Amino acid sequence: MIEDMSSYLDTCKQELNEYLSHALTTNGLAAKLYESMNYSLMADGKRLRPALLMATAETFGVSRRDVLPAAAAVEMIHCYSLIHDDLPCMDDDNLRRGQPTNHVVYGEAMALLAGDGLLTEAFRQLSQPGLDIPASRQLKMVHILSSRAGAEGMVGGQAVDIERTGGQGSLADVEFIHLHKTARLIQASIEIGALFPDLSDAQWSALSTYGESLGLAFQMIDDVLDVTRSTEELGKTAGKDEEEGKLTYPRFIGVEETKRLAEETIQAGQQALRDNGISSPLLEELQSMVLVRSR
Ligand code: IPE
Ligand code: IPE
Ligand code: MG
Ligand code: MG
Ligand code: MG
Repeated sequence: MIEDMSSYLDTCKQELNEYLSHALTTNGLAAKLYESMNYSLMADGKRLRPALLMATAETFGVSRRDVLPAAAAVEMIHCYSLIHDDLPCMDDDNLRRGQPTNHVVYGEAMALLAGDGLLTEAFRQLSQPGLDIPASRQLKMVHILSSRAGAEGMVGGQAVDIERTGGQGSLADVEFIHLHKTARLIQASIEIGALFPDLSDAQWSALSTYGESLGLAFQMIDDVLDVTRSTEELGKTAGKDEEEGKLTYPRFIGVEETKRLAEETIQAGQQALRDNGISSPLLEELQSMVLVRSR
């Protein structure tokens, strides 16, 4: 059933949070590790990636409930990436999702391990027996998530982001960084959602292209928000990119042009959907949130 559109993200968020709240139960002596993992996992994130996965599957008639383990997996990868992104050796941030960062509360070693734990748990969730899909497709999901999240994807983007912090670069370098550190995981969320229904290769590829565009635009707007919003609004430290000397879109083309480019980028992705006869009010609703948001 498709609910009132304005609350679709909230609906996904509630269902995911309910699932996540039972996903990690303490393990004897390692209780502190679980506390640290849950501290970040259960914090108030937008849950956009799992919602995109759910919306993609639901567009083709798959129930949200059936995709929850996969939705949880992408959120766990995202959450691990945030814990590591905030470490003193990375972006050195002390506020995330409106609360002190993981290492501020649990120390650097435990934060590192909480990230490791979430990364590994993501693959346990995604590969678990009993998901209502053919094993060959489930294996493909595992392959996609590992490619998109690893050195070929998110980790590679983070590496270049860190290498170039405080240094020089071109607009093409920024595009590489954003495409990898952020777009790949958003793209994977849509790609995995699109593996639950039985789609043609052309339909799946169109959704993949759309996911890449949406992901790139998402990071463009993240850069914009860093300059235009307050720490209170963001729940993370504002103005950090300039302070650290990050390569961002606004640094090269300014805030207004970055917003325009984000919109244009999404439109190009939408064209791929149209060309393949795909129309999804659910994805459109989430997409409008990517451009117009305050955090
Ligand atoms: C923040 O992602 C990190 C980026 C990749 C830009 P989100 O803006 O989705 O963060 P949460 O999950 O809502 O906290
Ligand atoms: C983060 O990019 C990308 C990740 C893979 C976590 P940012 O460093 O811009 O994310 P924020 O602004 O700290 O959320
Ligand atoms: Mg970063
Ligand atoms: Mg950061
Ligand atoms: Mg940022």
